[in-house]
Amino acid sequence: MSNNLLTVAYIVASALFILSLGGLSNQETARQGNVYGIVGMLIALVATALSLDVTTYGVLASVVIPGAVIGAIVASRVAMTSMPELVAILHSFVGMAAVLVGIANYLQESIELTPVESTIHEIEIFVGVFIGAVTFTGSVVAFGKLRGIISSKPLLLPGRHLLNLGMIGTCVWLGFEFLTIAHLSGLQSLLGMFAIASVLGIHLVMAIGGADMPVVISMLNSYSGWAAAAAGFMLSNDLLIITGALVGSSGAILSYIMCKAMNRSFLSVILGGFGEQTSAATPSGEKFEGNVTTATIADTVQLLQNAKSVIVVPGYGMAVAQAQHTVSELTKLLRDRGVQVRFGIHPVAGRMPGHMNVLLAEAHVPYDIVLEMDEINEDFPKTDVVLVIGANDTVNPSALEDPQSLIAGMPVLEVWKAGTVVVMKRSMASGYAGVENPLFYKDNTRMLFGDAKKNLDAIVAKLVQLSEASVELRQLAFDHVPVTGRVLNLLHES
Ligand code: TAP
Repeated sequence: MSNNLLTVAYIVASALFILSLGGLSNQETARQGNVYGIVGMLIALVATALSLDVTTYGVLASVVIPGAVIGAIVASRVAMTSMPELVAILHSFVGMAAVLVGIANYLQESIELTPVESTIHEIEIFVGVFIGAVTFTGSVVAFGKLRGIISSKPLLLPGRHLLNLGMIGTCVWLGFEFLTIAHLSGLQSLLGMFAIASVLGIHLVMAIGGADMPVVISMLNSYSGWAAAAAGFMLSNDLLIITGALVGSSGAILSYIMCKAMNRSFLSVILGGFGEQTSAATPSGEKFEGNVTTATIADTVQLLQNAKSVIVVPGYGMAVAQAQHTVSELTKLLRDRGVQVRFGIHPVAGRMPGHMNVLLAEAHVPYDIVLEMDEINEDFPKTDVVLVIGANDTVNPSALEDPQSLIAGMPVLEVWKAGTVVVMKRSMASGYAGVENPLFYKDNTRMLFGDAKKNLDAIVAKLVQLSEASVELRQLAFDHVPVTGRVLNLLHES
């Protein structure tokens, strides 16, 4: 393929990636966005494979084919709840790729460059390897934390900011040495920096507590984009630069939005738990003691039958129970009875951005009744019943009421302001952040213990049974209205 054709293919792929990002910003267009992304990536892969740079297809095929097969198998098998882990480990691959590309590029002797070009090229390599190493080890630690292999508690070493600063300072010094030394003699500095940046990546992510992990994942997503862009500079590949910049900037914007949603300082999260001391000193706020009021299926059905407005607040437990289809059925049943049903979605509900939206869309819940936290939070006092389905941290009043809580300041769905709150979960266990939830002890809260799917199935079955019985009753009553009464009714209706 000629270079001109390659450039055209890269421009088309870049445009498709931009359209893909645009599509992914909305549930209705997300599927379309995915298609744009897939087509863009196919064009990018085929065009690169056919470019003049590729001279031997054997090596390319021997890595691309097994990679594609493994990727397809892993992606098709992964449970929705394990998606963040998969994303984290994939970020680590991007980081490692940037490191390897950087080192290989440095060792490649054939490039003819002027002294200025050579310095720029070496800066690209050094920065690329640095970002790649931080992304690689940081993502591996994030994977471990999400998987539960590593404790999600923040590791707060004394003087850790000084430690970070020391490591960054040493990397800058090694960079200076790398640039001033004769070509190829700088390998030692490059590898030294790689080792230090790897430790920095581990240390930065180890210092971040479980509650901030969502931001870390999207931050690492951003880093992986910058690592890819750096690799693009090293390889003089425009498409890689554009794609990396798109991933890098969209990841950074998403992290910023999530920080705002969790009332976290953006800088403190990326600097590895800066300012975490207070919360770490008082791990999970106070212990709650009090009475918990339990509810049965029959109680919940009765509450729903008498309600005019219901808000459903789903959380990670709905994903674990795979209850979204039953939730959709329940919504339809209630709406058919004239009940106003809406959904309240917290920005970090579940284990990845948009987790709940994806599940509800899969179960065909209408988009227009699925509302963001800011759109629905003021409506709770006007709502008869709230069904909290496997949500915990995102409905925890201590975020607003207990300044010592680990999640203090995080905006939450203020469900306790509704008439009655039914919380569906299996036990009194805390949520992801490990914080006790005083919602369970409130007077207007009813705990419906058990697997969310099983309980919802039972509620739906009972409601169907009741509505069938009421149809039968109406039919029976109608059949027994005397003929004259029916004639009068018909006359009245006409
Ligand atoms: P969580 O606070 O994690 O609570 C989920 C609850 O679901 C648990 O308390 C659990 O209680 C219950 N549960 C689990 N399996 C269940 C089942 N089969 N049936 C019924 N209940 C079940 O959920 P949330 O409110 O969605 O909050 C999300 C948390 O994850 C936040 O702290 C957030 O920061 C964090 N996080 C979010 C993301 C993103 S980007 N969304 C990524 C990583 C972490 P039982 O064990 O008692 O049943």
